[in-house]
Amino acid sequence: MSSAIPPTASPRKPLNLHRLREMHSQGEKITMLTCYDASMARALDECGVDCLLVGDSLGMVVQGESSTVPVALADMVYHTRCVVRGNRTAWVVSDLPFGSYQEGREQALRSSVALMQAGAHMVKLEGGGWTAETVYFLTERGIPVCAHLGLTPQSVHALGGYRIQGRDQAGADTLRRHASELAQAGAAMLVIELTPSDVAAQVQQDNPGLITIGIGAGQRTAGQVLVLQDMLNITRGKLPRFVRNFMLEGGSIDDAIGRYVSSVKDGSFPDEAIHGY
Ligand code: KIV
Repeated sequence: MSSAIPPTASPRKPLNLHRLREMHSQGEKITMLTCYDASMARALDECGVDCLLVGDSLGMVVQGESSTVPVALADMVYHTRCVVRGNRTAWVVSDLPFGSYQEGREQALRSSVALMQAGAHMVKLEGGGWTAETVYFLTERGIPVCAHLGLTPQSVHALGGYRIQGRDQAGADTLRRHASELAQAGAAMLVIELTPSDVAAQVQQDNPGLITIGIGAGQRTAGQVLVLQDMLNITRGKLPRFVRNFMLEGGSIDDAIGRYVSSVKDGSFPDEAIHGY
């Protein structure tokens, strides 16, 4: 096993926010997968994944916790560093974990600085309108922000489980209002998790410049994200409806990742009839 990751010639220029916005405005779908370590970062980057999400899902996937709630900021800093060392050209988004931004904008700034200094290009935080002030405060200070609406896993205990959000009219209206508030506050990207496809599509329509990234939110978002271990079927157990097991079709990890990238780019994944709500 090689212990260091030697530099390899990469045909792709490093992605930045300007390029991601350009891709979005030109109708090119944006691909994102979660990533927690250097070797997978290198593989995902070389297979052409646009964005690597150092998600706090690492609490469940890597640490074996039953939710993302126990994940500490120090864990996120550690895994962000690992991913950044393996990556060359992908855009790296790192999660602010539970308890690292809820006290307010000053705490969020301190936590975001720690992630950015570990090499993240953008931080992600969960929550609706109450986070808009923080989003504004961070973006004004040069920290790109990805918001996260719909099913927000850090609030799993308040939400009563991993349930679809925005199903009724009132829930859909609230979600759309929060998305617009966050976009106006400066969020450049928005993860929308586990919502009816029509609601996610409306959010994108309401905010054309916002890069919406769906997970269990249909096909009409600007891009897609999945948990890497889910789409490679390493997680075991029953996969959520919105996940496709790309290992079934691919003979190798590289092949499975390549198929994910091309399926998102050509719009064949997700298939709303199979993976949508
Ligand atoms: O932490 C994570 O992996 C996430 C994705 C599920 C979007 O937030």
